[in-house]
Amino acid sequence: MRQKILMMGPIPAAQMQELEENYDVTKLWLAPDPEATLAAVRQDITAIVSTAFGKVSAKLIQALPNLEIISHFGVGYDSIDVAAAQERAVIVTNTPDVLTDDTADIGLALTLAVFRRIVEGDIYVRSGQWAKKGAMPLGRGLRGRTMGIIGMGRIGQAVAARARAFGIQIAYTGRGKKAGVDAAFYPDAVSLAAASDILMICCAYTPDTHQLVNMPVLKALGRDGVVVNIARGKIVDELGLIDALQSGLIAGAGLDVFENEPDVPSALCRLDNVVLLPHLGSATHDTRAAMGRLVLENLRLYFEKAEVLTPVTPAFAGKLAKNRDLL
Ligand code: 8YV
Repeated sequence: MRQKILMMGPIPAAQMQELEENYDVTKLWLAPDPEATLAAVRQDITAIVSTAFGKVSAKLIQALPNLEIISHFGVGYDSIDVAAAQERAVIVTNTPDVLTDDTADIGLALTLAVFRRIVEGDIYVRSGQWAKKGAMPLGRGLRGRTMGIIGMGRIGQAVAARARAFGIQIAYTGRGKKAGVDAAFYPDAVSLAAASDILMICCAYTPDTHQLVNMPVLKALGRDGVVVNIARGKIVDELGLIDALQSGLIAGAGLDVFENEPDVPSALCRLDNVVLLPHLGSATHDTRAAMGRLVLENLRLYFEKAEVLTPVTPAFAGKLAKNRDLL
């Protein structure tokens, strides 16, 4: 019998096709009446494929009595109520590693764009201002500056490696000192910001990191400082950030993520000292396909009663796969 999958958002076309060849798929985000669609399938669903944009709430998990696995398309899984899943012994997997390089590249691209005024420069050429007004105002160089990384995990470390190649010094904060990381550790975001020219946000979004980058942190970063966020919008106090950018409390920002995507505050869009991207961290054909393949692989392994590759609930992942029929 084919397993029944509930999908919360799209994955690349090739992996979507493979998914539909192997499973019965309900695309909830396309349903004209999602409640009615859910009511019709909920008893039979054994797996969810989720993305960053469709919440997998405790209520949804509870509505699916036969749910066994949530295979998430993305490394950050803050859109899933993992505690509720764990309570029901539902396994959760994500897609780490395969998106690290592309996401780190976007961190550096935003840093360069803000310091070297890349987007302003492009507009300057296209609008004919270069010919009319002559050379554009100067930017700022990167060599010798300090990048303070919040969250020295896989992506943070990949950003650090790239930044070092630009002659940037690295400092970081996180839950604790990381073994094997050769950079200055600061115990909190305020002290890190005070020592940094660039505050690079790479950590997971959790209750502990909610609005971690707030007014005191921005003040500590100071008027030459730049915030770059490639993690989650809610790690920053967005209104405070707008205020800090408008008043010159900090110099600029490069943002790939926002509090309420895809809605971006118009006040941010009116600022010259920011570069804004529509959540492009993992947005390449190569990486999205690799993420899609990992989503499929985790499902296949699970339903073949093997260990999944990338569980976010490792403590009982193996046990669950082996004892699945006993539960
Ligand atoms: C999204 C991301 O998952 O991996 C993450 O945490 O935020 C992104 O890769 C992607 O936009 C697909 O939903």
